[in-house]
Amino acid sequence: MITEEILQWKEKENAVILAHYYVDAQVQALADYVGDSYYLAKVAAKTDKSTIVFCGVRFMGESAKILNPNRRVLLPESDADCPMAHMAREEEIAALRERVDDLAVVCYINSSAKLKSVCDVCVTSSNAVKITASLPQKNILFIPDENLGNFVRSKVPGKKFYYSGGYCPVHAMLLARDVENEKLAHPAAKVLTHPECRGEVLAISDFIGSTAEIIDYAQKSGGKEFILCTEPGVLYELGLRCKEKIFYPVTPCCMDMKKITPESVLNCLRTGDGEVILSKELMDAARKPLQRMLELAK
Ligand code: 13P
Ligand code: SF4
Repeated sequence: MITEEILQWKEKENAVILAHYYVDAQVQALADYVGDSYYLAKVAAKTDKSTIVFCGVRFMGESAKILNPNRRVLLPESDADCPMAHMAREEEIAALRERVDDLAVVCYINSSAKLKSVCDVCVTSSNAVKITASLPQKNILFIPDENLGNFVRSKVPGKKFYYSGGYCPVHAMLLARDVENEKLAHPAAKVLTHPECRGEVLAISDFIGSTAEIIDYAQKSGGKEFILCTEPGVLYELGLRCKEKIFYPVTPCCMDMKKITPESVLNCLRTGDGEVILSKELMDAARKPLQRMLELAK
């Protein structure tokens, strides 16, 4: 059985396996920790295991390495990348810093290490509102996700927001009319939405939150049916925690997250392939906004 082999290699390599809710159910099932981006960053920062196998996309593995640089971080699929992580330009950030006074550059954790290194603070979808509201600056450049940035803006009055025009190709594909059609078929269903979705989808939602917050909401809610406006990988955890409830996913799969398989987890443990390697200078610069996030989100 592949699961037993993975367990043996995990012990041999003194490894811990982390998985995001969007990876395949079989991969989530074999992980030691499963969660949203904020939770996984905290676990990675604290682990004393010598190897972290990060079942997620590249920016997640990079963040783990930056926060815990003495660990070896392995990505089971080293080309599993988040397209949004590259949807901002360093030159544009520098140019806006020149042009706008009293500016904080807020970087969604779904960004490359290079982008993080030129920002002031990182956020995830579960702490973006709290952290942005706590910043003293009046002007905010929010990169790269404009949908999440607009959601934060709606919750943090009194600040002026600038954007880099990035978006998640998976969540941004969903339109309000897709949700409305599903609602016609299931009128009692509550609409649960990730803030990477378009504003028109957020506007017709009953709850907006990170993957972990959506799962918690569904578990605690008195409702029985839910339209799920986030990547359908969350169905695995929802199935474990909400056995009596029905979920209607309307968002497509993230094909990068779905690249990871039990075979690729075993392979990286066996061969050491997929190690995240970053220069010390880059890690030192990108660590500052990540650590600031961990402090401000407490
Ligand atoms: P969260 O799990 O932090 O909500 O992030 C969603 C996501 O798109 C990760 O890539
Ligand atoms: Fe990136 Fe979107 Fe996939 Fe998350 S779901 S990893 S934001 S492409």
